[in-house]
Amino acid sequence: MSELALLGGKPVLTEPLSPYRSMGQRERAAVIEVMESDCLSGFYGSPGPEFFGGPKVRELEQAWCKTFEVPFSVSVNSATSGLIAAMGAIGISPGDEVIVPPYTMSATAVAPLFYGGIPVFSDIEPDTFCLDPSAVQSALSPTTKAIIAVNLFGHPAQLHRLKKISEDAGIYLIEDNAQAPLASEHGRRCGTIGDIGIYSLNYHKHIHSGEGGMCVTGNEHLAQRLQLIRNHAENAVDWLDIADLNNLIGHNFRMTEVSAAIALTQLFDIEEHVRRREHIAKRLSSETTSLHGLSPPLVRNGCRHNFYCWVLRCEDTLGVERHIFSQALLAEGFPNTEGYVKPLYYLPVFQKRIALGRNGFPFTLTKRTYSKGMCPTAECMYEQEVLFFEPCAYDVDDETLDLLVKCIHKVHESRDDLAKLKS
Ligand SMILES: Cc1ncc(COP(=O)(O)O)c(C=O)c1O
Repeated sequence: MSELALLGGKPVLTEPLSPYRSMGQRERAAVIEVMESDCLSGFYGSPGPEFFGGPKVRELEQAWCKTFEVPFSVSVNSATSGLIAAMGAIGISPGDEVIVPPYTMSATAVAPLFYGGIPVFSDIEPDTFCLDPSAVQSALSPTTKAIIAVNLFGHPAQLHRLKKISEDAGIYLIEDNAQAPLASEHGRRCGTIGDIGIYSLNYHKHIHSGEGGMCVTGNEHLAQRLQLIRNHAENAVDWLDIADLNNLIGHNFRMTEVSAAIALTQLFDIEEHVRRREHIAKRLSSETTSLHGLSPPLVRNGCRHNFYCWVLRCEDTLGVERHIFSQALLAEGFPNTEGYVKPLYYLPVFQKRIALGRNGFPFTLTKRTYSKGMCPTAECMYEQEVLFFEPCAYDVDDETLDLLVKCIHKVHESRDDLAKLKS
């Protein structure tokens, strides 16, 4: 066995992985077409057909409906905007509780705060990192108005079970599907099982246009409210004859024509792109599944995982501290990060209980507190177990895949030496 690079040996990968380049000739041509049209945004924030955006924005929305098999798509300028618009569309009001996972990008949990909603953190499952339905059931209260499920790392949360919980409770299920286009559960696409699903088109995502987002829904009324909130609702409620004015002041969450044109070209390749990710993940998973103390990502029965990330868990039985294992992999040339994100209730907004204004609003409306120990599984993933790898951020061909597998095997075989090291 060759010596570990961490201990002075030669690394498996001698050059850093090259980045995956996803902007090609078609994207360039699409941008030039928009530039030449001289219409970089087709939106007007006032009554008229332009209230709904320019030609590329509308074309993208139609194509999105077709690809993701959903009746209504409303583009926005980020998933963060989409999450906020969704909270407005379902009528979140000050003091309403919204159940969220703590292990996700912060935008998921912060979105309700913009309407005075109270995020209530509910723990995750250790094998999919998504909301645990039984924890959600216990977190329900008479003031719960919605659940935001995140299809984290590209794997579906238990969406059908969460949908049933939300229907029984008479509340909404929103899907933060930022990371999971084309993932599915029991034949239904993620993003389309809840009342509203939100996708991200930021630079790191499968379909990306610099920044951008998409909200989808099967409910025409919610689609209309999303369109209004995206574009200065206050100017158009008379024109569209909206009687229920709840939350119908708007933002500028509008997508540009350039972003829409780029996203449209990327949409055509999405199936092939997800297959590429599945290929990489399948190889890494099959090569690690029998390694003692390591767990590759689970794909639950009846689910499609789109492998936004490939997440390896280092369990206690590995006998090596995660930090040491991570450093050893890095030294061999295998990029990885420890923990993903800290549980969101550790953030100052929750610890200091101040979101809007000077006086702690909206936390002044609740007795809920945010303390360590609330969601032990999320804490354990952050502090001890998760090693996060984005294979698809790199240009990983089969030869490189062999080297990545070699890195894991080499480090794993040397775990007795690593067990002696302490961070
Ligand atoms: C789960 C999740 N939700 C929301 C967001 C926010 O997306 P955006 O950057 O498009 O606002 C992200 C972005 O990384 C995300 O991963």
